[in-house]
Amino acid sequence: MSLEDVVVIGGGIVGLATALELRRDGFSVAVVDRFDMGRGASWAGAGMIAPTAERPSNPLERLRDQSARLYPHWAIELKDQTGIDIGYRRCGGIDLALEPSEAIELERQVLAWENEGIAYESIDLSDLYRIEPNLNGAFVAAYLLPDRGQIRNPRLLHALEVANRSAGVSLMPGVEVRSLETHGDRVISVKTKSEEIFSGIVVVAAGARTGEIVETAGIRLETPPIKGQIVLLKTEPGVLTRVVEHGKNYLVPREDGRILVGATEENAGFDVRPTAAAVAGLIAEAERLCPALAQAEVERAWGGSRPGNRDGRPYIGRAPGLSNLFVAAGHFRAGIQLAPATASLIAALIKGDETPVDAAFFALDRPPSTAQTAAIRS
Ligand code: GLY
Repeated sequence: MSLEDVVVIGGGIVGLATALELRRDGFSVAVVDRFDMGRGASWAGAGMIAPTAERPSNPLERLRDQSARLYPHWAIELKDQTGIDIGYRRCGGIDLALEPSEAIELERQVLAWENEGIAYESIDLSDLYRIEPNLNGAFVAAYLLPDRGQIRNPRLLHALEVANRSAGVSLMPGVEVRSLETHGDRVISVKTKSEEIFSGIVVVAAGARTGEIVETAGIRLETPPIKGQIVLLKTEPGVLTRVVEHGKNYLVPREDGRILVGATEENAGFDVRPTAAAVAGLIAEAERLCPALAQAEVERAWGGSRPGNRDGRPYIGRAPGLSNLFVAAGHFRAGIQLAPATASLIAALIKGDETPVDAAFFALDRPPSTAQTAAIRS
């Protein structure tokens, strides 16, 4: 049995960032995760950071813009605190359409960038060769987003883990939550396989497992697992320098010559094993976008279960009817992209501070929104 001010369930990027923020505010905090810290969906992403926006017009756009602005500070702070370089680079990005039908979809994105005040430039064939000489030149539309960035997920997660530990957060890997025990309008403890953790506040940031955990406290929330597979290639440094996006697929080049190729979207429950068909498809896509990658070494492939949501927005807020249960989950493909501002928002809600964005937009019991074009895919 232990007693904490806050128990965070889920040691992914959102859980670790929230724990660190609350610990810095003086709370005693424990983080439990059924596996090792940071090995869920956060580990399986490619670490694409959105460009900043001059005119974010709704709370989701603001959450993304705030996170994009926080990342360079995170990089400096985490380097100071842990010695780990999280690989933050404002490397820029290129979005491509290879078919006329894709160009129509890309034009919708361009309109959204324009409305949101995201910097972009149209690229013509002769310029593409100059900007990224190894990309397939047979595109029908291409745009440069100079403010896109990237981080290296495993390094970021490792840095957050080390920073939490040295700040005094109790990290509890390999601990599976069985249920939330309630009394009246409060959660009184978190029951795991082997112990009961008593806590003033509980934050569930357990990715796609969030729905099943909060259900034990009578809260219905849809966080369906959406499998994403990714392949890591290794080639010479400099074959690509920018993040390349093509529909739902992307190439994310690291400075050491590694290139992440992602990602699938599959309904496969919690099965995260890489499959032959998906890996073959991703490698074919990599070769199509950048023919030089046909010669790259295949280093590994892996998968993760992203937490879905019901209407394109994550759930960030207090659980209806339970005064001390909070949720930060359902970020789908944008967990890395939205984590810094998500942690600030949930910490502000817990402390009763003014929130940096309108929290009602992310409330668990909000009316379902009508779908909007996301300006930035990830
Ligand atoms: N955020 C990257 C992906 O979901 O594929």
